[in-house]
Amino acid sequence: MNQPVIDVHLTPDHASRALRQDVLSGLGTQPKSLPPKWFYDARGSELFEEITRLPEYYPTRAEREILQTRAGELARRTGARALVELGSGSSEKTRLLLDALRAHGTLDEFVPLDVSESALREAVDAIAADYPGLRVHGVVGDFTEHLGRLPGGSPRLVAFLGGTIGNLLPEERARFLAGVREVLQPGEWLLLGTDLVKDPETLVRAYDDAAGVTAQFNLNVLRVLNRELGADFDVDAFTHVARWDAEHEWIEMRLRATRVMRAAVPEVDLRLRLEEGEEIRTEISAKFRREGVEAELKEAGFDLDAWWTDEQGRFALSLARAV
Ligand code: AVJ
Repeated sequence: MNQPVIDVHLTPDHASRALRQDVLSGLGTQPKSLPPKWFYDARGSELFEEITRLPEYYPTRAEREILQTRAGELARRTGARALVELGSGSSEKTRLLLDALRAHGTLDEFVPLDVSESALREAVDAIAADYPGLRVHGVVGDFTEHLGRLPGGSPRLVAFLGGTIGNLLPEERARFLAGVREVLQPGEWLLLGTDLVKDPETLVRAYDDAAGVTAQFNLNVLRVLNRELGADFDVDAFTHVARWDAEHEWIEMRLRATRVMRAAVPEVDLRLRLEEGEEIRTEISAKFRREGVEAELKEAGFDLDAWWTDEQGRFALSLARAV
């Protein structure tokens, strides 16, 4: 078996510096917001795994169905030699891609990129053990910053699954797609997962489940601030809000203060006051239409090669080719 390799592009204090920055700029100004990446400590990652198994949360199952149906066709269309997976994590979907590309006979390298070194090591070791002969080259990095150093023989296939691109604001999305395009050569590939616009009831239920798991996931970001920055948020005094924004076509998750509240975040020397009913925006999850995805890809320098949805038309995988 080839020994897996891991490159670390993040300094040990990268996460803590970024968190401080985000808390200062997000909670020190109005309206208050926090970026969704801070949900994912160990507990938050477990809660997200639980979300993907909820009856109301369809995107994971819909995307898996598409991969199961289309992975063979994707392997034939791309003939990819390297699979680069951004924000890896979901190893089960990765395996559907790896299996199809290996069966097709072109794949020799797998390059997962993740901000979490521990999660990456686990994924890298498991994949290396199960795919003898496959080079596994992990990169610890942030997909919004460390795209410039992706290894792998051409043609590469960059996969960004789960609908995570929906968590970026439109201008962040444009920058991200342009950044991916920049590290690719013409003829290389992007596989992009996007959740689709559908009736608001279905969407809101997916982000406000009956068992309250998404509420716990949302509240967890305050626990992260309490632990990492010595903050004193009274987590029980907040409630979970999920709302469909029809104008922007995205779901917004918010944390609403149920009473006037003061909180201190000593590590960044911040004190804040929340009014009763005031909300902190913690996530947007944009939903897409084919024309919009195609236009954003085009703008970034990609041609849409294939558009695949699940049987019910809830979620899409776009296969795009760098122009
Ligand atoms: C996996 C990041 C795309 O936006 O649907 C799930 C995260 N947030 N429930 C999404 C999430 C609330 C999820 N992403």
